[in-house]
Parts: sequence; C-alpha cells; structure tokens
Amino acid sequence: MSSKINWAILGTGKIARKFATDLKVVPNTVMYAVGSRTKESAERFSKEFNFENSYGSYEALINDENIDAIYIASPHAYHFEHTKMCLEKGIAVLCEKPFAMNSNQVQEMIALAREKDVLLMEALWTHFLPHYQFVMDFTQKKTFGKIKSMKADFGFFREFSNDDRVFNKSLGGGSLLDIGIYPIFAALTLLGLPDGIKASATFFDNGADATCSMEFSYANNVKAFLESSLIEETPTEAIIEYEKGTVHILRKFHEPSKVKLIDANGTVEIKDFNYTTIGYNYETAHFTELLLNGAKESPLMNFDKSLKIIGLLDKVRELIGLEY
Ligand SMILES: NC(=O)c1ccc[n+]([C@@H]2O[C@H](COP(=O)([O-])OP(=O)(O)OC[C@H]3O[C@@H](n4cnc5c(N)ncnc54)[C@H](OP(=O)(O)O)[C@@H]3O)[C@@H](O)[C@H]2O)c1
Repeated sequence: MSSKINWAILGTGKIARKFATDLKVVPNTVMYAVGSRTKESAERFSKEFNFENSYGSYEALINDENIDAIYIASPHAYHFEHTKMCLEKGIAVLCEKPFAMNSNQVQEMIALAREKDVLLMEALWTHFLPHYQFVMDFTQKKTFGKIKSMKADFGFFREFSNDDRVFNKSLGGGSLLDIGIYPIFAALTLLGLPDGIKASATFFDNGADATCSMEFSYANNVKAFLESSLIEETPTEAIIEYEKGTVHILRKFHEPSKVKLIDANGTVEIKDFNYTTIGYNYETAHFTELLLNGAKESPLMNFDKSLKIIGLLDKVRELIGLEY
C-alpha cells in the first residue's frame, strides 16, 4: 500500500456529505471515488467534493481495484450486505452505526473480515472526539471518584414521513437504532455492560419506535438512565454523577461539544476543545492510520465493543417488542 489511502464513499445521502466535508482535512487521504444508485447523484456529489471518480452503481464502485478504504453511508438495513460486498473484494470498511441490524449479522461481518484479513470498524465517531476521550480518561482516573449514576439522551422532532429513512421501518427506522445507540454507547464506555436492563417504548403506526426509555443497572445500585426520541427535541446531554462531583457533557454530547466539571465544592470548570470541523475527521484519521500500519482491527472501536453495543440493542428490542 502506498503512503496515501484511496478513500471511497458508498451512498450520497446526508451523512455522506458531512463525512466528505471532513475527509478533506484528514492527512494521507485521497478523495478517490464515490458510488451511488444513480449516475446523476454520483456525479453531482463527486463534482462538489472533488472526488477523482464516480460510479452509478455500488457494484461498479467496488470493482475499482484502486480503492483502499470505503465508508458505508447507506441506511442501517443495508450495512450488512454492503459491508460484506466490500470485504469480499478485500476493501477495508468503515461502516456507519448501527453496524448492522442484529448480533448475528455483526458476527458474520467480523468473521468475514477476519477470514479475508481486512480492516473493519464501526463508524461510532463519538468515541474519537477529544471531548469524549477526555471524559473517558477523567472517569478512568477517578478524579471525582466512582460513578454513582448517569443520564444521557438524544431526541429531536421531525414530521413523520415514511419516505424518510429515519422513520421507514424497512430501512431500519426508529429512534433506538438511529439515535438511542449514542446514550447506550455512553453507558457502555463509562460503566461497562449492565447487570440488568429495563426498557419501554412508544411506537409510530408503522411499528418503528418513536421513543425509547432505558434503565441500565450495575453493582452497588449504580444506574444509567437513557432516552431516545423522534417526537421531541430533548437536551441531548450526558450528565455523570460521581462520588465527588459531576461531569456534564453539554448539548449535543455525541458531537463536538464542551464539558463542564463541577467538583464537590461547586467549583465549575468548562473545558473547550476548540473544534474546527464537524468532527468526522477524527474517526477517519484513526482508520487511515490503522490501514497504513497494516492493522485489521481498531484498538479503540474494536469488535468486542461493537458486539456489546449490538447485543444491548438486541436486548432492548426484545424488551420493547421491536422486531425488524
Ligand atoms: N455518525 C453520524 O453522525 C450519523 C448521522 C446520520 C446518519 N448516520 C448513519 O448513516 C446512515 C445513513 O444515514 P443518512 O442520514 O445519511 O441517510 P440518507 O440521507 O437517507 O442517505 C442514505 C443514502 O443511502 C443510499 N441508499 C441505498 N439504498 C437505499 C434505499 N433503499 N433507500 C434509501 N437510501 C438508500 C442512498 O444513496 P444513493 O442514492 O447515492 O445510492 C441514500 O442517499 C444510517 O445508517 C445512519 O444511522 C450516522
């Protein structure tokens, strides 16, 4: 492999646009190719972001043998199929969250990546953001002691439309898989796997979940209260109560944000991370480095973590009766 990575994007929707915007600032990358279901969309996207090549089908895209890495930006229900297509061709895959629709699919994707000896990672971008890294370090160092409880939420309002992938059940629509994954990710990375889970949800007429409330319980009565909603704008914050203080990841906690530290005396300190991008460059820079170094799995967003996240999503779906 050369000293630069030829990046490709599969799909030209909303997140693909943000990803492409930030890809421009990542070192050692080439804006190499984009693939869409339609030639027009591929060409428009490619022109706007200065990609070297565009393809009017995903098959044509992945047949380009010069692609080193591909970012899967299709709806959840297609992550499994699209990831496997790329891995079969020996292309390293950075796939959007949720990694797939259930644990069985994620296990199969990981097994294929191992068999083909190709790098694969879930694009859970929050993990790579400096403010989130700071909170993880701060928690591990126990500066404020151990966590007593936490809450994290993610909610927005958008008019229901079955044409919108966020609500379309056949594309994996619903609040839990789309945005509930972030509060779950926060609880997992700060507290680990829970001993017990309670969950309840409300549903749209098409069966996609409109809201989901979860309570994760841990040893010593530690609790995490987690929420997702597609019918209400909610604070979209993470508040972590420790023995000797509070850490508040300000709105919106899952994207570039500030962190407020409040110690036991009530002294407040705000940490500003001076972000200059949308924030997708951090995961991409990590992935590019891994690929240049010949790694097949991220030490940070590793397979074990992806399996735990999808396992928790499966468990919550079982509790609320949500089937795809
Ligand atoms: N990390 C984040 O912050 C973040 C934010 C938003 C979304 N996401 C994830 O990214 C994925 C895509 O979300 P998005 O908001 O970008 O969705 P979107 O705007 O609807 O775009 C999805 C794209 O997927 C392609 N596609 C392939 N098959 C499709 C089908 N049957 N129906 C509709 N589109 C299809 C289309 O691209 P072509 O027409 O070019 O083929 C479409 O533009 C989701 O899994 C979501 O969870 C992540």
